[in-house]
Amino acid sequence: EKLLVIHGPNLNLLGSREPEVYGNNTLQEINKLLMEIAYKNNVELEIIQSNSEGEIIDKLHLNADINGIIINPAAYTHYSLAIYDAIKGIKSPVIEVHISNIYSREDFRKKSVTAGACIGVISGFGYYSYVMALYAFLNEGLQNKG
Ligand code: DQA
Repeated sequence: EKLLVIHGPNLNLLGSREPEVYGNNTLQEINKLLMEIAYKNNVELEIIQSNSEGEIIDKLHLNADINGIIINPAAYTHYSLAIYDAIKGIKSPVIEVHISNIYSREDFRKKSVTAGACIGVISGFGYYSYVMALYAFLNEGLQNKG
């Protein structure tokens, strides 16, 4: 069983980036927690962070048929039709996550163009959004959407 977490642009700055919005935890701390949960559940977990759209799309293609992908597309959420198409085009089920509640912020954040290609969205629970998505895959044993 293999799961993948993709952190999109600027999430490498977690901990110092607008902590009042995104919290004080660094990406490394969040990743450590996710790896521990995966390890305890005997699931292989790969985690990447990328600031570039093409790299994120390539990573989705390389993981077209795995048990689950958790993606925080960050700002790409709001305009990347290319990432929407990539998620649509693969078999792996994808859960979109956001640290902040995108519906309580600026108007331009209220629309996710990528969410429609995903099986679900978790938004607003801080780093715990990732933990909830991971548990969704672990507990439900969600298989591919094909
Ligand atoms: C985010 C919300 C996006 O609007 C923003 O561009 C991000 C992070 C979140 O996790 O809350 O970079 O995806």
